[in-house]
Amino acid sequence: MPGRRRSASRPAPTPVLPVRLRRLRRTANLRNWVAETEVELRRLVYPIFVRPGRGGPEPIPSMPGVDRHTVRDIAPLARQLDKEGIRSVLVFGVARAKDAEGSDAWASDGLVPEAVRAIKRAAPGLVVVTDVCLCAYTSHGHCGVVRKGAVLNDASCERLGRVAVAHAHAGADVVAPSAMMDGQVARIRAALDAAGHEETAILSYSSKHASAFYGPFRDAERSTPAFGDRRSYQMDFRNAREAMREMECDAAEGADILMVKPALTSLDLLARARKRFLLPLAAYQVSGEYAMLKAAVARGVVEERAAVEETLGAIRRAGADLIITYFARDFARWSREER
Ligand code: PBG
Repeated sequence: MPGRRRSASRPAPTPVLPVRLRRLRRTANLRNWVAETEVELRRLVYPIFVRPGRGGPEPIPSMPGVDRHTVRDIAPLARQLDKEGIRSVLVFGVARAKDAEGSDAWASDGLVPEAVRAIKRAAPGLVVVTDVCLCAYTSHGHCGVVRKGAVLNDASCERLGRVAVAHAHAGADVVAPSAMMDGQVARIRAALDAAGHEETAILSYSSKHASAFYGPFRDAERSTPAFGDRRSYQMDFRNAREAMREMECDAAEGADILMVKPALTSLDLLARARKRFLLPLAAYQVSGEYAMLKAAVARGVVEERAAVEETLGAIRRAGADLIITYFARDFARWSREER
């Protein structure tokens, strides 16, 4: 036992450790001093669901804490969000009446245009983004026009162009196409420009997976497809190179911001995209990610604030400039409590 003999005679030699990473972890002040990234409230986008009819906010059972609002409720909500420090919102609507084409999606007096006008009047400083898709407006629930059981690409893009113009006309700052049709960004850019909306930006849902994590959202939007699934247009989560191709197409077609979605299953894609593109990047922490965290919190197995800040922090670290999250208001509250 050579070790033991030595320690009995003289002290053990001090190990030479040139790197001691724990030095800068010793106190909260040191840790904050050297933290590499930060989630700022200005980067968060809060989704708003607009429903037809009258009455107050209606809870969404699968998304505790998130409500569906009527157009009349939108103005007070927008003022409230503005007061809370929220800087941008993403507006989702549903059809007043669904049809095969989803025509209510491009009605100038539809729920989204009305909500956008109400937000812009109530809180002009909020950046207003609108979701551009057909799935909440079509009777079959698919994101485009269906013929003989197939979702048509180019005909759907033409409809999406009309939707974007209706939203821009109501005052949306940014339109966010989420239908995953090829060429939708180019088509929307052309439609916006032709209608005099050169200033309206496009945030493209570029890498959007066919995902198990949209369940609660489809509940909220009543947009579950009546037949089949979305795998013939949304991306296969197994493919990262293809995700880069989606982003390259969207960038070339004139997208102003590229998005990945769901966020937590796309962190590698964010990191790759951060190296590859100079455009701002967004990530969508989707309804299923929200519901999953909420369920774990309700069971007492994780602590909400810590878990949410950790997930948002990881999304930011991976490369997101903007994060769309249903936790935006909670995050705002936590930031206020800190001060
Ligand atoms: C519309 C759309 C969806 C989401 C955003 N836009 C649903 C879908 O594609 O099925 C999902 C958002 C969420 O789950 O929070 N196409």
